[in-house]
Amino acid sequence: MSVSPESTGTRPPCSSGCGRMLGFARVSPRPKGSAPNLEPTSRLAICPGSFDPLTLGHVDIIRRAARQFDRVVVAVLHNTGKAPLFTVPERLDFIRATFANDPGVEADAFSGLLVHYARRRGAAAIVRGIRAVSDFEYEFQMALMNRRLAPEVETVFLTPAEEYSYVSSRLIKEITALSGDVSGLVPDPVARSLAEKFPGVPESASTG
Ligand code: PNS
Repeated sequence: MSVSPESTGTRPPCSSGCGRMLGFARVSPRPKGSAPNLEPTSRLAICPGSFDPLTLGHVDIIRRAARQFDRVVVAVLHNTGKAPLFTVPERLDFIRATFANDPGVEADAFSGLLVHYARRRGAAAIVRGIRAVSDFEYEFQMALMNRRLAPEVETVFLTPAEEYSYVSSRLIKEITALSGDVSGLVPDPVARSLAEKFPGVPESASTG
């Protein structure tokens, strides 16, 4: 994965033309009478969130987004209002370690308005995962507000694999703090760090 925060490099469109599935191929403006240029231009999506910590549900959504867009920036919010379990650099490290073999996925941190960051990065879309109907109201409100603020940035909702539909960072932290086993629900680097932070966590949690 790329770690350059403001990198705008591109990777070739996927062979299946998947970027076009969501209608993201763009036809460049052309002089009247000339042949259309159907080459898709690079499409960048932002996957924003707290990621405190990254779960396999997040990973599933990010991988799905990476199949639809040329580049995906996993953007960790610097949230001064919350007391996080992991620092922003730790959260970025989890993302970079997990997507080390995915050149189209980059980790970055942002503060302030998401749409300002999205504009700065030239993003075509904001990708959010919807696990259940309960997620919808908040996400819908945020999507419409973001559209009002930046109409050119589309919000795209993706659904995770069913096996992750009940996974959340909040539950991961709660279960781990109470010595429960979250192996199979978080990437390995996260499981190891959780086991370090909460020494009572079952051994299997550090190998999940
Ligand atoms: O993982 P989370 O905590 O559900 O992510 C929420 C996030 C980071 C996407 C949202 O809080 C956000 O975009 N914050 C940045 C500030 C902002 O733009 N607020 C206006 C939203 S309409």
